[in-house]
Amino acid sequence: MKRILVTGGAGYIGSHTTLELLDAGYDVVVADNLSRGHRSAVEPARLREVDILDTPGLVRVMQEQPVDAVIHFAAYIAVGESMKDPGLYFRNNVSGSISLVNAMQEAGVRNIVFSSTAAVYGMPAVVPIPESLPYAPINVYGETKVMVEKVLDWFGQTQGLRSVCLRYFNASGADPAARAGEDHEPETHLIPLLFQAIETGTPATLFGNDYPTPDGSCIRDYIHVSDLARAHIGAVEWLMTGGVSRRFNVGTGAGYSVQEVVDAVARVVGKPVPHTWGPRREGDPATLVADSSSLRNELGWAPRDSALDRIVETAWRWYNR
Ligand code: UFG
Repeated sequence: MKRILVTGGAGYIGSHTTLELLDAGYDVVVADNLSRGHRSAVEPARLREVDILDTPGLVRVMQEQPVDAVIHFAAYIAVGESMKDPGLYFRNNVSGSISLVNAMQEAGVRNIVFSSTAAVYGMPAVVPIPESLPYAPINVYGETKVMVEKVLDWFGQTQGLRSVCLRYFNASGADPAARAGEDHEPETHLIPLLFQAIETGTPATLFGNDYPTPDGSCIRDYIHVSDLARAHIGAVEWLMTGGVSRRFNVGTGAGYSVQEVVDAVARVVGKPVPHTWGPRREGDPATLVADSSSLRNELGWAPRDSALDRIVETAWRWYNR
């Protein structure tokens, strides 16, 4: 049985990927320091409480039970926080990834799937976005992901490390069986904030309805977290069967506006969503939609759960767990 080390496996996307790996017959070890993840998201026997900056600790985890590949999620994800405290982000996301790659070298592990982001493109000039667009991040968070993609590329060129970078668009939804879901503190993502507005009656603030889009609100490519998780399995299998290093977008290619998401939430929950339209949020591009034809064609991946109502329905089931 192949064994995969998942860093950040107690977090949102990491916990879903762990479930999909187990469902697909892999053995999984999770490395997480629980600074942002949740202990309850991981089976206790799989969890190793180790910080990503603790290189010897990571080596011990990889030597205790040898692993065939690493899927690396452990990182901070809040754009606003990254602008307030860049040192925290460069240290955890960039130095942490270097620490992990050094540990992999020492343990003789050569395959890594890396959690990257559409934020590497900044305000893209072409939509749907192809992977060939140049790096143009407009925030520290996006820059940390660019830096790690480059680190992985150089370790590939000089040390034989093989990597797949998956650039996620808007991860959303929850495990359809409600075994895992989204639980950020503080929450900044649209769909859970709309649920909170319904629950509390306090209106959600929506960031801008004067964009050059059909209804004036921002368009995003919402991808169900279980579809995203399955893309990681495809990527890790690609590497373990000799595939070369690659960078892939992971999105559906379909965009929905903020207004359409509000309508979907109202439809699925069966209640109106209290909301007010505020000004634009700094750094929000009008439209972010992936061209994920490479992932579909080369890895044979296709979304199964990413219809908007399915995303909202699974997220709502988890929210009410
Ligand atoms: N939005 C609101 N009100 C809110 C929160 C969000 O109107 O309270 C809007 C945003 O302006 C945006 C859409 O809802 O148009 C989605 O916003 P999210 O914050 O849920 O997601 P983002 O598109 O901003 O961010 C996602 C990831 C980031 C990543 C970014 C770029 O969460 O990690 O995509 O790819 F950097």
